[in-house]
Amino acid sequence: MTDDDLHARVRALRDDFSPLLLAWQRREGRHDLPWQNTRDPYRVWLSEIMLQQTQVTTVLGYYRRFLERFPDVAALAAAPADEVMAAWAGLGYYSRARNLHKCAQAVVERHGGAFPRGAAELAELPGIGRSTAAAISSFCFGERVAILDGNVKRVLGRLLAFDGDLSSSAQEKRLWRQAEELLPSSPDDMPAYTQGLMDLGASLCATRSPQCLLCPVSALCAGLAEGEPTRYPIKTKKLKRGSRESWWLWLEHEGRIWLQQRPPEGVWGGLWTLPLFDDEAALTAQSAALGVASPEPLPQVKHVLTHFDWLLHPRRALLSQAARPAGEGVWVTRERLGEYALPAPLKKLLD
Ligand code: ADE
Repeated sequence: MTDDDLHARVRALRDDFSPLLLAWQRREGRHDLPWQNTRDPYRVWLSEIMLQQTQVTTVLGYYRRFLERFPDVAALAAAPADEVMAAWAGLGYYSRARNLHKCAQAVVERHGGAFPRGAAELAELPGIGRSTAAAISSFCFGERVAILDGNVKRVLGRLLAFDGDLSSSAQEKRLWRQAEELLPSSPDDMPAYTQGLMDLGASLCATRSPQCLLCPVSALCAGLAEGEPTRYPIKTKKLKRGSRESWWLWLEHEGRIWLQQRPPEGVWGGLWTLPLFDDEAALTAQSAALGVASPEPLPQVKHVLTHFDWLLHPRRALLSQAARPAGEGVWVTRERLGEYALPAPLKKLLD
């Protein structure tokens, strides 16, 4: 499709799209989530970061506890990094938590503790990309800026039968320009409009079986008119996923468990875990040095990450004598485990 054709298509539906979406959002969309009905950028920002890779139902409890512990951006900025990680533990994608902490500190240092009012300035802060910046600014300040996260790419890709390959950043920018043309004219409508796009993407405009019969904009949808809306969005470069295997040594002595902190970058960066080994022999050597010849095998754990499946083989060794395992680490009683940021599969294993 040429740019002229695309532009003609956008112009033809521009006047109808936002009113239909807004009416639907006000009737059928979500209105009672804890981060709605507020224009406090701290609360909105926190929710948007938590929701980036995580389902609403999972986020709810974390969000509430996080706000109790860190009620405002100053409290978060002043907190020790380990406490921030502990509050995030189990949500996954821990670079989000590290950036969250950095961002709070930047808001305090660069902006005197108040989030800047505008997507362009928000996008300068750690961990806030273009779409997240637009979400915060449209929700809190009514700024007329377009979001374009994965769900919205699907909604707009179908609506426009956008045939560009979204693996290409030039095509992504091209879709972004169309998203800007579709914005409602009144800033007052921006919060419901942004939420409406998110809600449509999270409900009716599903990846595999969209419910076009119920869709408020089906009459405008070029993808549906062509007969195969799921053809869009087009993305040729699929994520190549791999797999990895590790052995996980659970050392316990008189009710204490040996934990090591992961390096700041990479999977589980900054979190506390049982010692990890690339092969079983290395694990056995470590446990033998501590007096346990054959640690007890526990059921393997499969942990699914974006780029690979991680197969973890836990082995449990109960030490009868006090010992000092190799490397840095701490012996932690069960009662104090809550003070450490543990990855979700480890929490589950230890329970
Ligand atoms: N996902 C990302 N942002 C969201 C929001 N504001 N409400 C519900 N789900 C979301």
